[in-house]
Amino acid sequence: MAESSWKPKRASAGTADSTKSTFNVELSIQSAEIKKALEEIVVEKDGFQLKDNKETTPPSLLILELDENPEETFSVIRDLVKAARGTEIFLTAAELDSAILLEAMRSGAKEFLAQPIQKQEVEDAFSRFQERATATVANDAPIKKDGKVLAFFGGKGGVGTTSMAVNTAAALMKLPSEPRVVLVDVNQHGGDLPLYLDIQPTHSFRDIAADPSRVDQAFLFRILTKCESGLQILASGYDDLSTGRLSPDCVESTLRMLQSNFDYVVLDCGHVLDLTTKKAMELASLILVTSTLMVPVVHRTKRILELLRGSGFPQSKLRLIMNRYLSGEKDVLVETEEILKQKAHWLVPNDYPSVSHSVNSGKPLIDTAPKTAVGKSYMDFAYSFDDQASKPQAKASTFGWLSPFKSKQTQPAT
Ligand SMILES: Nc1ncnc2c1ncn2[C@@H]1O[C@H](COP(=O)(O)OP(=O)(O)OP(=O)(O)O)[C@@H](O)[C@H]1O
Ligand SMILES: [Mg+2]
Repeated sequence: MAESSWKPKRASAGTADSTKSTFNVELSIQSAEIKKALEEIVVEKDGFQLKDNKETTPPSLLILELDENPEETFSVIRDLVKAARGTEIFLTAAELDSAILLEAMRSGAKEFLAQPIQKQEVEDAFSRFQERATATVANDAPIKKDGKVLAFFGGKGGVGTTSMAVNTAAALMKLPSEPRVVLVDVNQHGGDLPLYLDIQPTHSFRDIAADPSRVDQAFLFRILTKCESGLQILASGYDDLSTGRLSPDCVESTLRMLQSNFDYVVLDCGHVLDLTTKKAMELASLILVTSTLMVPVVHRTKRILELLRGSGFPQSKLRLIMNRYLSGEKDVLVETEEILKQKAHWLVPNDYPSVSHSVNSGKPLIDTAPKTAVGKSYMDFAYSFDDQASKPQAKASTFGWLSPFKSKQTQPAT
């Protein structure tokens, strides 16, 4: 899959540009008074401007306020430093104690601004920032990642869409290139993705929907839930029994921002085609329609593929994934591909005991059953997205069970 357009790119706006040197500043400050004081200083200071919320490129400078839970703020700083290389972080807080200061510096904050805000102190910190940024501008301007968005959509309910999204995201995390991966539940009818990873997110899309204007870099990292593996999750917060709907606008602004911070944004879109999932799929690099070889599933998958093609989704973006595949089903597969007018891009072996054990233990297959055919299939699938990573030779030979279908996996979609 040789697509290079999604690789990290240098930002086109808001970066430290050696000819213009205007730095975008984002303020993630709760207290209105402190925010106003800092805004005034940014606006007055030559070479600095407030970042427009619609701009998805990470800011050059982010000023964060320490919240009631300092550990949470430090964790956000650590994630931001890793995700948005080239963004400097300043911390501001009312209480200044040495333990907090030390932890702030360790987590990656570059300056500490005491409250109440002292204009001179902030201006001096800005000047030091300018000096550092000018010295490192060639290599360290904020990078606008253009992460690959993989949207899994179910040809029917229960075909394994959530399993696909969870296990693909977990396998991507294991690639030698150590990509940054976020898994997003765009399914507002099920919204059960956290159960597959045994996490209980305290935040979700609902936090964004409550006030879309608040969505900035720091806010976004605050509402993600981090798994032990480092995989970040954005929960849906919606299901059939809850009130409200996840709006297409909310999904669009969130995905755009995630895309600029992560290498892979993996989406569980459920199986209901509505304006919200359609929007998510419009933003996707690939739409991975998940299906099985069961007649009712094939019947609905055919309708879904026709609807997607009819709605203007390019064929080059569509991929068919056959889940729960049994090795004796080759003839049925060929017949199904003809019916669907789509070659299968990937075959995931049927292994109910391993998959259900993984779901019930709240861990991805790559951890619970890495040596099974289904576990290996997911790892191989992850490798197929990373054109920089070459799969270790020893590993390649262990995927022997797939060799009769190898041509199918590499075949471009028709
Ligand atoms: N490769 C596989 N082999 C065997 N069983 C599988 C496989 N993948 C998924 N399953 C099983 O299929 C069932 C449905 O999986 P999953 O919840 O991922 O589907 P879904 O399409 O997301 O469902 P829903 O429409 O309810 O959101 C689960 O019991 C899961 O264990
Ligand atoms: Mg599901």
